[in-house]
Amino acid sequence: MYSKINQDHLNELRAFMDAEDILMDTDNLEKYGQDETEDFIFKPEVVLKPKNTLQISRILKLANTNRIPVTARGAGTGLSGAALPVKGGIVLSTERLNKIIQIDERNLQATVEPGVINYVFQEEVKKSGLFYPPDPASWGSCSLGGNVAHSSGGPKAVKYGTTRDYVLNIEMVLPNGDIIWTGANTLKYSTGYNLTHLMVGSEGTLGIITKIVFRLIPLPKHDLLMLVPFESAEKACEAVGATFRAGITPSAMEFMERDAIDWSIKYAGEVNFEIKPEWQALLLVEVDGNSMDVLFQDCEMISNIMTEHGCDEILMADSAEQKSALWKIRRKVGEAVKSNSVYKEEDTVVPRAELPALLKGVKEIGNKYGFKSVCYGHAGDGNLHVNIIKGDLSDAVWETELPKGITEIFELCKNLGGTISGEHGIGLVQKEYLSIVFPPVQLELMRNLKKLFDPNLILNPGKMVF
Ligand code: LAC
Ligand code: ZN
Repeated sequence: MYSKINQDHLNELRAFMDAEDILMDTDNLEKYGQDETEDFIFKPEVVLKPKNTLQISRILKLANTNRIPVTARGAGTGLSGAALPVKGGIVLSTERLNKIIQIDERNLQATVEPGVINYVFQEEVKKSGLFYPPDPASWGSCSLGGNVAHSSGGPKAVKYGTTRDYVLNIEMVLPNGDIIWTGANTLKYSTGYNLTHLMVGSEGTLGIITKIVFRLIPLPKHDLLMLVPFESAEKACEAVGATFRAGITPSAMEFMERDAIDWSIKYAGEVNFEIKPEWQALLLVEVDGNSMDVLFQDCEMISNIMTEHGCDEILMADSAEQKSALWKIRRKVGEAVKSNSVYKEEDTVVPRAELPALLKGVKEIGNKYGFKSVCYGHAGDGNLHVNIIKGDLSDAVWETELPKGITEIFELCKNLGGTISGEHGIGLVQKEYLSIVFPPVQLELMRNLKKLFDPNLILNPGKMVF
């Protein structure tokens, strides 16, 4: 169904792209054939690094006419395999489109190219007293385009929302090369179907994002961070729901199981406080705002709720260094797990108060199929990252039992009112499980939608619904 790249195609590309932006050497094909998802590798036939929208338009026109697969890639930090070129063809990297075009202080907005790194953007808007909250664990290296393509979250999502909540407008290239803006640079939008929000989370299957207009908010002046240890992981999860019911919205409410902490400390470095052997889980709770008095009051209320749920002694971070050490441990859990064992990471999400039931169920399903799991994540969002560990399991057990276990975990999510991904996306690895949460009629609707945008199915084939 798809064509291979041939000399004619390359000649055509060379007519409008610089030679240095067309890569075909083995090292680069290998590098761009991987992302951060497990140990998958699918080599593309060519890697293209366009410098502007017009070049992207011409690449897509060429690919569409010749039925060549095009897989868009931000910084390659994805965890669902959405950037893997499973059908070969072109990897279209947006890394050279890395300009912050405008920070509009009058309107509290910014226009960026998709290759801008999340953290670079955060730091830049901070200089104007502004705040762009979405902060995935990989913020130091992930790109804003990739964040939009997955509606990425991060710890701050619990108070401030995910990427979706900040995207106002998108310039995109359709597979036939047409260039459109999806909406308007306004805070309100009631002007027909919302193509902007359709593009958010579409994982490069509908079009290529070439510019993004984000809304920004004023930067909060202060924050306080506390580390709350528990002997029971389920009790920790129960304390999460109780905090919000008491009327407090922390700016982060993160959960880490014992193994997650131990592995991360081993991987990321020493900490200057004692992790007692009896602690089974920790909550990392942050509050932010403009009044220190209010923040101290919030912390006191949170301490009371945590104590009612049987926490041990709470550590209040007392310096910027300690805060960043605690955040480093939390942010490095994913990498630490990856370095420790063959694993499979799931991105389960349920309504917040169902988190204790989800955790309990995940452990029961693990016992049934013989696998261990290390859980951590954005507890305040009911978003639990479940890392299923291969450990000593045989390859045969891993291959036959794992899909059954994952299916049961996802069915549990669905039964609790949740779904199979909160922020990592569907991509390649969650694709086979979509039918757990969507009936055939809904999957068909999504396939038809995809065909409307991309009739020749050139964009990111093998992902999501095709
Ligand atoms: C995290 C990534 C894995 O929360 O989503 O660390
Ligand atoms: Zn996460």
